[in-house]
This record gives sequence, C-alpha cells and structure tokens, in this order.
Amino acid sequence: MRSSRKMDHVQFALQTGQSGNQGLTDVKLVPNCLPDASTESVALFTTIGELNLSSPIVVNAMTGGAHETEEINRELAVAARERGLAMAVGSQMSALRDPMQESSYRIVRQMNPDGLVFANLGSEATVEQASRAVDMLRADALQIHLNVMQELIMPEGDRSFHGMLERVSRIAEGTGVPLIVKEVGFGIPLENARLLKSAGVQILDVGGSGGTNFAAIENVRRKLPLDWLNDWGMKTSVTLIEALQVYERGRVMATGGIRTSEDIVKVLTLGASAAGMAGALLKILRNEGTQALIDHIDELHHGIVLMMTALGAVRIEQLWTRPVIITGSTAEWCRARRID
Ligand code: FNR
Repeated sequence: MRSSRKMDHVQFALQTGQSGNQGLTDVKLVPNCLPDASTESVALFTTIGELNLSSPIVVNAMTGGAHETEEINRELAVAARERGLAMAVGSQMSALRDPMQESSYRIVRQMNPDGLVFANLGSEATVEQASRAVDMLRADALQIHLNVMQELIMPEGDRSFHGMLERVSRIAEGTGVPLIVKEVGFGIPLENARLLKSAGVQILDVGGSGGTNFAAIENVRRKLPLDWLNDWGMKTSVTLIEALQVYERGRVMATGGIRTSEDIVKVLTLGASAAGMAGALLKILRNEGTQALIDHIDELHHGIVLMMTALGAVRIEQLWTRPVIITGSTAEWCRARRID
C-alpha cells in the first residue's frame, strides 16, 4: 500500500506540475550597475547551521521504498554527486518497518559516499527510529517533515497529531546530527517557528506552497473533480519571510516551487542559506534523464553566478545585504501580519 502510494506521488507530482505561484514574482531584486565583482570571484558555497554545502541547491526529500524508487534515488544521487549538491531521501519510515526496503535508500549513500546526505522521517518518529534512519545512510543531517494537511487529505493518512513538538524536541536532543524541520509544501508560520526554535530545532526548511501541491496530488490520485484545499498554505515567499522573523540567517532554507536560478537568487537575497528543489528536478530526471538533470544543474549554477555578479555579491551572505522590494500579495500578507 505504502509502496504503491509512493510511486503514485511520483507520477501525480509530475502530472500536477510545477506551475503554481510561490510568491517570488512579488520579490524584486534591485539592480546594481557598479558591481565590484567578476564571475570568477563568485563562490557558491554556503552553510546551514553546522552544515557546509558547496552549492546552495539541495535535492530535497522525495522518495524511497518501492522498487522503482531505488532507480530514482540512484539517479538523483548521481546528479547530486556530480555537481556537489546535498541530497535528502524520502521518508524512511517504511524501511524501518520493512528492512527489505532499505536498499532503495542506501543506494543514495552508495552512489555518493562523500557527499552530504540527509535522512528523513515524519514527526511520529521516536529518537530510536531517528537514530536508525541516520545510521542507515551515515547521514550528515536528519530532516523531520511536518505534513499535517498531507496526512489529513489522504484517506489512509494519520488523524492524530498530539505530541509532535515533544517528539521533535527529543529528536533534536538525541540524534547527534543537525536536525532540519521541514514542511512539504504548506509552509511554517512564525508562531510555529517560535515553538520549534524553543524545542531546540536548529534549522528550518520552510517548504511553502507554489510548487508540488499534495492537495492537488490527492485530488488527482483519488479522481476527485475538485480543487479542494488546492489553495491551502503559505506561499514560499511569505513562509520564508516569517521564519526569518524567528530564526537567524544561516539557519533557514527555502523550498516550494523553486524552479529557476532567479527563484534561487530571490530566496537567498531574502535571507535563505539554500534552496531546496524537489518536483522540478524530478520532472527533468523522469522526462529527460540523468545527463539532462546534470546539465540543468549546471545551467542553474551558471544563472546564480551571473546574477550574483550583477548584484555585486561574491558570497551568498552578501546577497542578504542587497536591497529587495516586496510587492503584491506577499507585501499584503506581511502588512496583515505586521511584519516590516
Ligand atoms: C516529496 N516531499 C517529501 N518531503 C519529505 O520530507 N518526505 C517525503 O517523503 C517527501 N516525499 C515527496 C515525494 C514527491 C514525489 C515529491 C515531489 C515531494 C516534499 C518535498 O521535499 C518538498 O518539500 C516539496 O515537494 C516542495 O518542493 P517542490 O517540489 O515544490 O520543489
């Protein structure tokens, strides 16, 4: 059941697409006609908490478990290795319950022995399960995903969410690797960010709306003639701005509808340390293959270097000091939430 659902998610993520509005057209970069920079002087390395990344692009959590997902994870890992990207696997809970499924996750470490690999579980995990998930991959960090609405809209999904914060807090203390708490496409509001910070969570991945949409995926999967809850959640632009009211720069990454190098530069300029990409990379891999994915990552890197040069920022932290204008519904949201 879970295995076929995982392949459904892959298929329907491709079908429902990546055309949503993640709010980044509301974010305008102010040009710099006198940049003290050259393309050679730009460096793309970045840090998120204690993690040192050679690129601000992270291949975010997608899959593992079902047989076909092993091939996807292998090819994503090859692309991540070839271009030095950190990569997260999809939720490992199914492999903790059924060790036969472990190979579809372990393949990521096998393909990329020296790269940054992130383990992934939901907030139902115990400290012991979290440690096993990390050990399975010799992972450099652990992602815990929060996906309440995704669970609620799946008929077979969880219905009870008591004690999430306490479990997250125990995991933050107990696993020995940096903990990243992420949403899967509905965003993390600042009230929740405050609670997560006080629970000891060092890194947030805001996972806003505007990209992969699990409400839309579920409506298609169940052939519902509805757009029910397709509009749920916070756009990536606003959830990133909210998280940065609580978490200092250097501890927040942004995911959700990141498709272009311009999207990446915008979230970095807003204050993110890295940009997670899931659906857009999966689409290229499935439709065009591994080499096309590697070529696409090259194009993204090239675009980031070009824009950083034009903005006169030779390090990612320097983007944080560049002026940025927030317009449209993102500005309206910030006003309504009294965020300057
Ligand atoms: C996901 N995502 C996800 N996240 C997670 O933490 N654990 C998981 O198992 C999965 N599974 C999964 C499957 C598929 C097919 C997709 C496309 C995505 C969510 C993902 O990491 C990311 O947060 C969202 O997809 C939003 O980013 P994009 O897709 O808009 O770039």
